[in-house]
Amino acid sequence: MDYTKVWLNYRPVKSASAQVFSLCTQEKGPIIDNIFAEFDTALPAMYGIVPVHGYKDGTIPIELSLDTVLHAEAYRIEKNEKKISITAGAHVGLLYGTFALLRFMQTGKASADFTVEKSPSNPLRMANHWDNMDGSIERGYSGKSFFFADDKVIVNERTRDYARMMASVGINASVINNVNVRFSAPFLLTERYRKPLIEMAKIFAGYGIKLFLSVNFASPVRVGGLDTADPLDKNVQVWWRDTCKDIFEDIPNFGGFLVKADSEGEFGPFAYGRTHAEGANMLADAVRPYGGIIVWRCFVYNCQQDWRDNITDRACQSYLNFIELDGKFADNVILQIKNGPVDFQVREPVHPLFGGLKHTNMMIEFQIAQEYTGQQRHVCYLLPEFREILDFKTYNGEEFDTVKDLVSGKNYGYKNCGMAAVMNTGNDKNWTGHDLAAANLYGFGRLAYEDTLTPEEIAQEWIALTFGNESQVMENVQKILMMSWPAYEKYNAPLGIGWMVNPNVHFGPNVDGYEYDRWGTYHRISHSAIGRDRSSRGTGYSQQYPEPLASMYDQIETCPEELLLFFHRVRFDHIMSTGETLLQYIYNTHFEGVEDVEKMLTMWETLKDKIEPESYARVLERMQFQLEHSKEWRDRINTYLYRMTEIPDAKGRKIYD
Ligand code: GCU
Repeated sequence: MDYTKVWLNYRPVKSASAQVFSLCTQEKGPIIDNIFAEFDTALPAMYGIVPVHGYKDGTIPIELSLDTVLHAEAYRIEKNEKKISITAGAHVGLLYGTFALLRFMQTGKASADFTVEKSPSNPLRMANHWDNMDGSIERGYSGKSFFFADDKVIVNERTRDYARMMASVGINASVINNVNVRFSAPFLLTERYRKPLIEMAKIFAGYGIKLFLSVNFASPVRVGGLDTADPLDKNVQVWWRDTCKDIFEDIPNFGGFLVKADSEGEFGPFAYGRTHAEGANMLADAVRPYGGIIVWRCFVYNCQQDWRDNITDRACQSYLNFIELDGKFADNVILQIKNGPVDFQVREPVHPLFGGLKHTNMMIEFQIAQEYTGQQRHVCYLLPEFREILDFKTYNGEEFDTVKDLVSGKNYGYKNCGMAAVMNTGNDKNWTGHDLAAANLYGFGRLAYEDTLTPEEIAQEWIALTFGNESQVMENVQKILMMSWPAYEKYNAPLGIGWMVNPNVHFGPNVDGYEYDRWGTYHRISHSAIGRDRSSRGTGYSQQYPEPLASMYDQIETCPEELLLFFHRVRFDHIMSTGETLLQYIYNTHFEGVEDVEKMLTMWETLKDKIEPESYARVLERMQFQLEHSKEWRDRINTYLYRMTEIPDAKGRKIYD
């Protein structure tokens, strides 16, 4: 079995009699060719017989046709004894219907007659790759880039495999380069890289994917030779317009730009005393004639903080930078907002901009690259976290105010919004380093297309498609996945406080790693208390939420416990809802987290003969590492707190001194 095919690794469907299908359609074009290719790969693998192209007596026709009443990316599948039909609004919908049908067949859900109709929850379902042109990947944990090497753009078989994999879960937009647009990356806009980008985009088009680039706001200077990048300067505007004209004319499925501006050293409109809205709108004008979009990131904060300054709060800053600009962005600008206010920690509150912005297109930015969640050496299935965030009620308005309502725009008639994720792929054979990390990629795409799916449903599908649906495999892998995020949270930095990692690499425990640094992420542990006060008596962060959230977060008594140390400075003798002191709670969860990993490892070991050996061994090696590493986390944190407080574990377990 070839695991490079991840969940598209079609295998025989048990108890299916050999079935001859015929593929029937009037439609023609590159997407249709790819649909035929998919059936030609999948059906023989599952049912043992190559499908016929065109009508033929004695076969079961799979009919593909358009119904323009349907949304372009929507599909309807109807199956009865005599035929299967897939209807969609456009070719891309037929492609999604094809992948859905094959998924049903593979997971045993296509034996009886059925009808299903789906249309995408989110207009944009976007992959953000942080790939650099030298082939490295910022926060990449699965090898090198497959888009770039040695300052060149790579287009090969893997480009097609990539596009196919992404389309199979409904991703329709891909930003191929890092948001930090450095070295030769600003030149992706120019003729120098046009030819391979055209080729790449053509492959993407066959799978319904739009190509986006991250751009450097200083491009008019860096690339265009102008002496300014001021968004209000006429020459700058003309330069961007001309540049966009060339790109969009050469690349019909070019989507637009992703921009990190005035953030962590990236250049932006502040240099000229202009606002984010002025910067974004200037770019929006340049891409508008071609239906292009500007995705502008809200990850903006002062990364030159002094640890002695106890007033400035990084958590407050993204909101403060954007809230006053609400309603000032052009309609083809989307603000891309990280799920939390700081930076993809294992637990953060939902970003307050979701509850605050009322007249601005929003997209949520998740991170499936496991930067802070074990770097694809720990299992950490993030879908339960994403589910919680999407269902979070923001109190932005009277109704339809969960995060998923806001970013999908479906109740507001917004076209420009959706979900993005920082990707976890690289050129490793299995794409994601850890085989189980592929569940995050699969799950992100599935959830972006169908935002009501549960993490359990997604896990079931992914396991059946990836490893087959043998019952013990299904059960154990599901349990491992579902336990993994809570386990990681238990042995990590406690109760939303975050960080406590080794600087720069962000891997492994280091309680004081960022404590005296400039990044604004402090725990301020003393012998008696831990945390920063972000209530109205402290930095005021809690007040960025609408009521009743502002009051709820403001008080220790009503703050959800899992976020206690995000919002409050709390004494170690504070009594938790479990009846334990805060200190004892932290000790306990750190012991439990390691025990959970032990259980996960045992469950994996029982699958030894049921999982393809290479994949089994890869996961085993990583889980063994995870076990040792979780002990390191446990002991570093428990020992640190024990040394500070000199209060031993009430259960007498070993805490090093
Ligand atoms: C994090 C990450 C950086 C990245 C940044 C971003 O801080 O560590 O590598 O550039 O997020 O989202 O822009």
